[in-house]
Amino acid sequence: MTSYVKLGKSDVSVYPIGLGANAVGGHNIYPNMLDEEVGKEVVRAAINNGIHMIDTAYGYGPKRSEELIGEVMKEFRRDEIVLATKASQKNVDGKVVMDNSPSFLRQAVDEALTRLQTDYIDLFYIHFPDEDTPKAEAVGVLNDLKDAGKIRAIGVSNFSLEQLKDANQDGYVDVIQSEYNLLNRSAEDTYFPYTSEHNITFIPYFPLESGLLAGKYDENSTFQDIRARRPNFQGEKYKENIAKVQQLKDIAIPYEEEVANIVLAWYLTQSSVDAIIPGAKRPEQVKINKRAAEITLKDSDIKAIDDIFNN
Ligand SMILES: NC(=O)c1ccc[n+]([C@@H]2O[C@H](COP(=O)([O-])OP(=O)(O)OC[C@H]3O[C@@H](n4cnc5c(N)ncnc54)[C@H](OP(=O)(O)O)[C@@H]3O)[C@@H](O)[C@H]2O)c1
Repeated sequence: MTSYVKLGKSDVSVYPIGLGANAVGGHNIYPNMLDEEVGKEVVRAAINNGIHMIDTAYGYGPKRSEELIGEVMKEFRRDEIVLATKASQKNVDGKVVMDNSPSFLRQAVDEALTRLQTDYIDLFYIHFPDEDTPKAEAVGVLNDLKDAGKIRAIGVSNFSLEQLKDANQDGYVDVIQSEYNLLNRSAEDTYFPYTSEHNITFIPYFPLESGLLAGKYDENSTFQDIRARRPNFQGEKYKENIAKVQQLKDIAIPYEEEVANIVLAWYLTQSSVDAIIPGAKRPEQVKINKRAAEITLKDSDIKAIDDIFNN
């Protein structure tokens, strides 16, 4: 039986696999994922299968992901769900700018609560840093909101290590969410020593490198969404990546598992990675990904995967 894990120093416990919900209502990110009913089915499949941490954000839609998740949540008991959301973006004269000021974060939490139709958020992140607000001040207001019962755990996302250290001056940060996957492993050197030492959970985003690490694409695959612009999907680099993923297929065979799950299980062997939030566009993907937390990789396979992706 898979144990739950605590997020940082908070009292929020989660199953180690959550649902990354940027494709649920995230029409600005995945314009080809317009069917909102499919998105809602993905969320239902997650909760019905014990994947209870749902990771959304103001920026997905914008707003629409939170609204759809709020609708689905009404079908369940509130305490069956660990709701994670993020904010920092605001529109100024038609331009999106970041704001981490205490007044903005208070307002952002209140507005997210309304869209999510709930009276508390289990994990609230500052989505992106701004340039002006001292990070300890930004996190300080989140700690006040925690005391007020509006949020239960404090996260930051896309913060540099220096910004994380500033934010965590008073020890309030429970989670940092940042990019990390087998094709981009810089977090191992930048964040993991600090997060391990300070009991901060590291939650990787793009764990499957937007599907590239799931093992189903080949050299001839083409992409019409956000992936068309991402470096790992371009030209020779893409072919090299596909060749690496190909090698995972042999490792997956004895486990009778999908490549995606072997990749997800590997992250859970890393010191600070307590939980992962793979995205999903169909209910079947959620059901498959849940099994990743039940896989115990052999040490020799952990090393073999490390070696394949070590350059
Ligand atoms: N904090 C931030 O700034 C930030 C930034 C990005 C993402 N995020 C969060 O991180 C989450 C995860 O990132 P992501 O969803 O963008 O990328 P991801 O988790 O790396 O990839 C998810 C994609 O992989 C494919 N997939 C998932 N499970 C699969 C399976 N079992 N078999 C085959 N394919 C599978 C699906 O795409 P296809 O079926 O189309 O291949 C799915 O949409 C997001 O949902 C979001 O919540 C946060």
